Amino acid sequence: MRSALDDSHNAPADSSGITYTELPESAGRDTADQLRLLIENVTDYAIVTLDTHGHVASWNPGAERIKGYRAEEILGQHFSRFYPPEALAKRKPWKALEVAAREGRFAEEGWRVRRDGSRFWANVVISALYEDGRLRGFGKVVRDFTDRKQAEERRELERLREALHDRDVFLSVASHELKTPLTPLQLKLTSLQRLAENTPEGALSSARVARELDVARRQVRKLADLIEDLLDVSRINVGKLSLEPEPMDLAAAVREVVARYTPQAAQVDSTLTLDAPAPVEGVWDKRRLDQVVTNLITNALKYGAGGPVHVRVSTENGESCLSVRDEGIGIAPEDQPRIFDRFVRAVSERNYGGMGLGLFITQQVVEAHGGEIRVHSAPGQGATFTVRLPPGSAPSGR
Ligand SMILES: Nc1ncnc2c1ncn2[C@@H]1O[C@H](COP(=O)(O)OP(=O)(O)O)[C@@H](O)[C@H]1O
Ligand SMILES: [Mg+2]
Repeated sequence: MRSALDDSHNAPADSSGITYTELPESAGRDTADQLRLLIENVTDYAIVTLDTHGHVASWNPGAERIKGYRAEEILGQHFSRFYPPEALAKRKPWKALEVAAREGRFAEEGWRVRRDGSRFWANVVISALYEDGRLRGFGKVVRDFTDRKQAEERRELERLREALHDRDVFLSVASHELKTPLTPLQLKLTSLQRLAENTPEGALSSARVARELDVARRQVRKLADLIEDLLDVSRINVGKLSLEPEPMDLAAAVREVVARYTPQAAQVDSTLTLDAPAPVEGVWDKRRLDQVVTNLITNALKYGAGGPVHVRVSTENGESCLSVRDEGIGIAPEDQPRIFDRFVRAVSERNYGGMGLGLFITQQVVEAHGGEIRVHSAPGQGATFTVRLPPGSAPSGR
């Protein structure tokens, strides 16, 4: 490889621009010939050698095909001419040689410029060529990855478009959901105001006022919960869902939620039953587990309205288990893995309200505790969600 890599760039080159050393031994000569033939016949790769300063010392047909220069035009020229101006401004070609000389190899993908000024996306590997411990030049192999890059960009664009579309859908769903409790709230407030205006001083029934206010308060609570869910999703997105674990009894916590939702169950003709024969102690975030139970029970009452909802808390194989079972519409097998993703809903928004955040948040909370959540369901046959929690002192943060 002596002449190819010599600092002088006037090395003899044959018609293809490949130069090679004449070895005295015929076997060596054969190998060099084969190597020359190989490089000469490769058109998918630009195979180029550079001298220690970066001047082109050999040029194969692949290089001509990819970069557009014929060997006689380019031999002796500095390889920086393949780089676009923005890369030259950052001194990229010289830095590439520095890295290759220091580390033996430099690889990157980036834009390069052809002879006609057009750009192509290049996959480049530069290797330092040493002889007797002395740097003799560089070997450079370049592939044209423009098609691949374009396909990648198309995929990325498609992905962005889908994300934007999902975001739009979510915005419309979220605004609809936020508006839903506002209507009855406004109605209640208006009717309360009329009542106050039309009732003589002192004659206003406090029971009546309390009833109206209770409805208003429930709508405010719904709004607050929706906003809290939205906040939770952004906390999760920035990795800030922190836990405040404390010793607690899961059975007692679940009992509280069941009591809270018993009136709502009655409203949709469901029965809400709890099977929690013994305390289930552990160190968990009480408020977050309340949220988990609430999400599972509200789903069961929403998607299993009119049927029984059964909640169970137990200890199995040293793990604390919570299960919520309904006999409602169930979930198709292909939807089961998706429903834990944010914004994902497997029902039509016309039939059921919801932002598709409950199970996402639930799963995040359960996993932050080191536990797991699973679903067993078949369409039309109800659904059972099972949460398993290690007793542990849970790790804080996610
Ligand atoms: N108990 C259930 N029965 C049937 N489908 C359910 C049940 N719980 C959740 N799902 C499905 O999972 C989806 C995601 O649930 P969730 O994250 O709580 O969102 P949301 O209740 O706001 O729709 C729901 O839209 C529904 O398709
Ligand atoms: Mg839900």
